[in-house]
Amino acid sequence: MSTTLVIGGSSGIGLATAVRLAALGDSVHIAGRRAETLAAATHAHPVLHPHALDARDARAVEALAVELGSIDRLVITLSGNQGAGPLPDLDLDVLHTAFEEKFWPTISAIKAALPHLAPSGSITLVGAVTARAGIPGTAGIGALNAAVEGLVAPLAAELAPVRVNAVSPGYVDTPWWSMVPDADREGLFAQVAANLPTRRIATADDVAEVLALLATNPNITGTVIEADGGAHLGG
Ligand SMILES: NC(=O)c1ccc[n+]([C@@H]2O[C@H](COP(=O)([O-])OP(=O)(O)OC[C@H]3O[C@@H](n4cnc5c(N)ncnc54)[C@H](OP(=O)(O)O)[C@@H]3O)[C@@H](O)[C@H]2O)c1
Repeated sequence: MSTTLVIGGSSGIGLATAVRLAALGDSVHIAGRRAETLAAATHAHPVLHPHALDARDARAVEALAVELGSIDRLVITLSGNQGAGPLPDLDLDVLHTAFEEKFWPTISAIKAALPHLAPSGSITLVGAVTARAGIPGTAGIGALNAAVEGLVAPLAAELAPVRVNAVSPGYVDTPWWSMVPDADREGLFAQVAANLPTRRIATADDVAEVLALLATNPNITGTVIEADGGAHLGG
């Protein structure tokens, strides 16, 4: 049985990925900071093993990796949701925080878990369409996601035979959008969906399907799959 660790697995895309990989027969461990979110996830999906940790704490990640023994699939889906906005209005302290909440914990968790990854294992990350699409108001958050996606090719070459890949989603209906009041979110999503080639906002499971493929397929490495409803095409 493969051992999988999903950091950010208590919510949204990470939780959907954990559920998919558990359905494939993996022993799946999910990590997140909030105990109540982890408890809700494992209440809904008792097959998942919860671990409360902050991925910014490399020692905590390493301790969990030691506890797990050997990790076959490391999936990192964590992030905060700050850093968007037109440059003149963008508070650079907030952008620093956005990097602290996504890029630094991602690279730190990879480094901490690395000695415990199986040689045939995989690392699978999540970027975003903002990394490449040229969407106004995304210079900061785009640079953040480009930094995460930029890890993929060099690490795939450096860590081989461990495989390293990422998915690049667009607009996904998850708690990530909690900064938009509930009353406004439906209207925002309808407006965005109308301009997407697929005419729909993605579900967490749409993206989880791609993450599960990247995490398990032995022939894919160094790849970032755009799974964004065509958002990278503009429009
Ligand atoms: N939703 C979208 O439209 C969208 C679009 C493009 C890309 N993405 C990317 O997709 C990924 C997943 O996002 P999502 O939409 O699934 O968001 P989400 O529902 O908010 O899930 C984020 C998860 O990360 C965990 N987390 C955050 N910081 C952490 C830390 N320091 N240590 C451990 N766990 C941490 C959260 O739990 P705790 O808060 O309890 O720690 C939660 O489980 C993110 O990288 C996001 O940037 C999302």
